Amino acid sequence: MATPLRKSESTSGSTSGGDASRKHRHAVTRAAALTAVGGILFGYDTGVVGGVLPNISSTFDLNSPFLKGLVVAILLAGAAVGALVAGRIADQLGRRRTIFITSVVFVVGLLASALTPWLWLFWVSRFVIGLGVGSTSFVVPLYIGEIAPPARRGGLVSMNQLSVTIGILGSELIAYGLAGHGDWRVSVGLALAPAVVLGLGVAREPESPAWLVRQGREDDAREVLRGLRDTDDEIDDEISNVKDTAREESKGSIGDLIDRRLRPALVLGVVLAVIQQITGINTIIYFAPTVLQEAGLGSSASLLALVIVGAANVIMTVVAIRFLDRIGRRPLLIGGMVGMVIGLAALAIAFGIGVHGGGAVFATVALAFYVGAFAVSLGPIVWLLIAEIFPLRVRGQAASIATMANWAANLVVAVSYLSIISWIGQTGTFVLYGAITLLSLVYVVAKVPETKGLSLKQVEQQIDGHKHDDALADAA
Ligand code: BGC
Repeated sequence: MATPLRKSESTSGSTSGGDASRKHRHAVTRAAALTAVGGILFGYDTGVVGGVLPNISSTFDLNSPFLKGLVVAILLAGAAVGALVAGRIADQLGRRRTIFITSVVFVVGLLASALTPWLWLFWVSRFVIGLGVGSTSFVVPLYIGEIAPPARRGGLVSMNQLSVTIGILGSELIAYGLAGHGDWRVSVGLALAPAVVLGLGVAREPESPAWLVRQGREDDAREVLRGLRDTDDEIDDEISNVKDTAREESKGSIGDLIDRRLRPALVLGVVLAVIQQITGINTIIYFAPTVLQEAGLGSSASLLALVIVGAANVIMTVVAIRFLDRIGRRPLLIGGMVGMVIGLAALAIAFGIGVHGGGAVFATVALAFYVGAFAVSLGPIVWLLIAEIFPLRVRGQAASIATMANWAANLVVAVSYLSIISWIGQTGTFVLYGAITLLSLVYVVAKVPETKGLSLKQVEQQIDGHKHDDALADAA
């Protein structure tokens, strides 16, 4: 299934020069952009539910809040399972095949969901779509992280997060553009287009060179790298880095993950994944219409505000992509999280003093500010770090465990949010998320290493507890 570039297409070493370099740059960007289509599926499938839920509920007579909540929850549960299962597949069959299988899972789930006349099949299809979402959310960043040169890795991996935000914005525009009179089956089925593009696209792209080396297929890896890197030196370095790490430990079982040297990376990955969710982003992404109407907005003003919030998410992700490889992960992460705390405090104040007239505008600005701050920090950087921090021998499985923790935390937040509001009120809820974000910030400042520009091997050394860099040592 691997389609390494033919020798005649390779331009490394002897033919180095501007053209060759451009061609390699372009090949890496194309592979990243095509697989990042998985992010659109992630964003669209999680975002579209809020808008189409009323129509789905009337088709299937879902009258209780519990059944309505289940439409959201079952996809998130599927995502947690999908992330875990796909972790093994990605280490055994390869990153590229896993992405291909994921696209098939999406097509099956989406077709069933859009066409089913039966409620039972609707539930099953939601779970199947969730399996796809969970799988794509970890395997795409992992794949891009392994084909990208270190100096461009941050921006390229985060193209996936950009796709997530575009998928969310697209789902909002479609769901609310149809505003109750459209057919929910069409809205759900539209995701078939990116699913097919993902499957056909990845079939033409090369396998991850790191995974190939780990499988003992050094020649194939070299062939792939000839299409992606400018010089033979770069290729040799990359291959010997991977071989070094592979040699250190021959097996890569789950048992290795609880090995003392691996534990810090696993704890860091899981905690960051959970922090991304418990700081409240999806209370806004999934429940924004409710929140905005609470803020006193009418339905068309609500649509506009929603689009502003969705656009802030997209635009600020572009900003993050521009700066991740220049100023580094830590400054963006820390600065963005400070912004999230300010946004949540502003929301608490807005709801505290009452949101009428100008107050509603203030609340909308605060929402956009909070989401924008997330988009330069926890949004892209958590997925990036999950793709970067694990040693190759367990990278697939470890990334999938962290990703599963992300979806499990997402599920807990989604099902508890409305109850928390009825318990401590909207203001109290924002104060709670603000406090959680502040505590999380302390953890991030103390524990997250700077990975800008480092090879994945250097990242591994930095985290393994023996070779802390200055930032890490200072923070500890
Ligand atoms: C998170 C999602 C969230 C999205 C918002 C992603 O990084 O994992 O849970 O809905 O960002 O843009």
